[in-house]
Amino acid sequence: MPSFDFAPLLTAGLPAPAAKWTGFPRYNFTGGHNDADHVPVDRLLAAATAVLAREGRTLATYGLESGPLGYRPLRAFLAEKLARHAGISCNADEILMTSGSLQAIDLVNGILLARGDTVLIEQESYGGALSRLNRLGVNMVGIPLDREGLRMDALAAALDDLKRRGIRPKYIYTIPTVQNPTGAIMGEERRRELLRLAHDHGVPIFEDECYSDLIWDGRRPPALYALSESANVIHIGSFSKSIAPALRVGYIVARWDILSRMLALKTDAGSGALEQMVLAEFCKAHFSAHVPALTRALRGKLETLIDALAEQFGTAAEFDDPKGGIFLWVKLPDVVDTQKLAQAALSSGVSINPGAEWSTDKSRGRSRLRLCFAHPSHAAIREGVAALAEVCRREFGVPARIANVEQRAAAR
Ligand SMILES: Cc1ncc(COP(=O)(O)O)c(C=O)c1O
Repeated sequence: MPSFDFAPLLTAGLPAPAAKWTGFPRYNFTGGHNDADHVPVDRLLAAATAVLAREGRTLATYGLESGPLGYRPLRAFLAEKLARHAGISCNADEILMTSGSLQAIDLVNGILLARGDTVLIEQESYGGALSRLNRLGVNMVGIPLDREGLRMDALAAALDDLKRRGIRPKYIYTIPTVQNPTGAIMGEERRRELLRLAHDHGVPIFEDECYSDLIWDGRRPPALYALSESANVIHIGSFSKSIAPALRVGYIVARWDILSRMLALKTDAGSGALEQMVLAEFCKAHFSAHVPALTRALRGKLETLIDALAEQFGTAAEFDDPKGGIFLWVKLPDVVDTQKLAQAALSSGVSINPGAEWSTDKSRGRSRLRLCFAHPSHAAIREGVAALAEVCRREFGVPARIANVEQRAAAR
C-alpha cells in the first residue's frame, strides 16, 4: 500500500523539515555543549536517590505539589543564589521554571511580540534568539558591540531614530554577562546607562543570562534586573551551562503581573519534574563548589584553543581573550566565507558555527565564526583546529603555511 501523503494537510508557514541526526562530528565546536568530565554524575546520582526516596510519591501529581511555577525547593535555591550572586531580590513565586531557557525565550516572545513588531538586539547575538525573531516576522535593529557589550551611543541613536519614526520597540534583548558569542561583560556603569536609556524611551529590557556563573575570577556586576529602579527588566537563566544542557532546566524571573501572563501561555502542564528535583537536591549542597571546578577546566580548554589557533592560523585569526563562558568569537581574513568554510570543514569531521548565523548583519558575520571549546578534549581541540586550518587553506588560501612557519620560527 502506498504510504499516506501528509503533505497537502500540513499547515502553512512551517519551517523547513529537520535534518536527520547522523551523530556528532569528530571535532565538534558547535552548539553550547558542556565538559563531559564535569557533569557531576556521582553527586547527581546521590541527589536523585535521596530526593526520590524522600519525595518520589509527589511525582503522582502534576507539578509535584509545588504548583505550576515549578518545584519549589529549586525556586527557593534560585532566589537565594540570584540574591547572592547577581544582587537580584526576588522571592520564589517570582520565578517560573521552564524547559530550558529556550522555552523562556518563547514565553517572553509569546507575551510581547507580533509580526511586524520591532526589537533592539545586539548586532552579534545568540542564534536561537535570532532564528526565533526571524520566524516571528519581527524587525530586528542590530546594535553594535564593543569589548563591554552593547554600545550606548549606538543604542541611543537607534532609540531616537525609532521614536522619530513613531515606532516603540517591544524590548531590548541583551546578554550582558558573558555575551554570546563575543564573551563581553557589560560593566556596572554601562548597565546603569542602559537602564536609564531604556526607561527614558519606555522600552523594557530582556536580560538573558546563562553564562554568568562561568566567569574565570567569579566576579560579575549586578544583573540589570537587580539594578532596575522601575522593574522594566525580564530576566532569564538556565542550568544548561553551569550543570548540563540535556537536563533542559531554565527559568524566568519577572514581576508577578508579567510572570502570570507567561505562566498562562505555558500550557505544557509543567516542565520535567525529576530534573528539577535532582537539581534542587544537588545545588543546595554542591553548586558553589561545582562551579569553580568547572570554570577552571573551561579556562584550561580556552587556553588550549587559543594556543592551537595561534599555532595553526597565526595572525589570520583575531579574537579577544574572553573572561568566561564556553565560546571564542573569531575573525578570519575577509576572503574567508565561514558559511562555506563550515560546509567544507564538515567533510574533515570539523563543525563550527558560521558567524552569519550569529549576526544581525550578515556581511559582518561572513568572515567570523564561533567555536565552542567546552566539549572537545584538549587533544580534539588541537587536532580539530589543525584540520580546520587545513580546510581553510585549501578553500581560501589562508592561513598561508609559510606565514605560520615563519611565525613559529620567530616565536622560538
Ligand atoms: C544566550 C542564550 N540563551 C539561551 C540559550 C538556551 O539554552 P537552554 O535552553 O539550554 O537553557 C542559550 C544556549 O546556548 C544561549 O546561549
